[in-house]
Amino acid sequence: MKRVAILISGGGSNMLALADSMAGDHPARAVLILSNDPSAVGLQKAAARGIATAAVDHRPFGKDRAGFEAELLKPLLAAKPDIVCLAGFMRVLTPAFVEGFAGRMLNIHPSLLPKYPGLHTHQRALDAGDLEAGCTVHEVTPVLDDGPILGQARVPVLADDTAETLAARVLKDEHRLYPAVLRRFAAGDRRPLYL
Ligand code: GRF
Repeated sequence: MKRVAILISGGGSNMLALADSMAGDHPARAVLILSNDPSAVGLQKAAARGIATAAVDHRPFGKDRAGFEAELLKPLLAAKPDIVCLAGFMRVLTPAFVEGFAGRMLNIHPSLLPKYPGLHTHQRALDAGDLEAGCTVHEVTPVLDDGPILGQARVPVLADDTAETLAARVLKDEHRLYPAVLRRFAAGDRRPLYL
């Protein structure tokens, strides 16, 4: 049974989709939900599901990323995760932190990587006149939003889309894609999945 820690920064809708997908017959289970924001609503939702939670507020550390990560590692390593999933986690992690979980840290990004790494992905797709958008689950490597692709889901861009309407359409697919990829990954299958 693989132990999965999930890192969040806010509502944690992807975390909930992952946690709920592991509740039944599954090769993994959620052992910790960890946030950089103690007030993250996702922490309350995880606790309501009986999943252990922890938070390390990044704000007191200012620009001291290494200091924040040293604190973050304490509850994370205590949970003994086999796999770490970033799910709406909005802090950039240092190469040293990422390398500590090489080959077993996943992230979901709301674009069809390699297009649009970074932020404001939906507005950028609209500005570019793309006819398709979507989301990508990838292995986390030291280069932001760049690791091996483990899964993608595509959605159409509609003529009257705004960044908000497109984000909502993509988010629905994120909640399908991430659990499907995690199930395969936890079973040792790293072949990319295209929904
Ligand atoms: C989602 O668009 C996800 O792709 C990105 O953060 C957004 C919010 O995710 N990583 P969640 O609702 O907090 O899971």
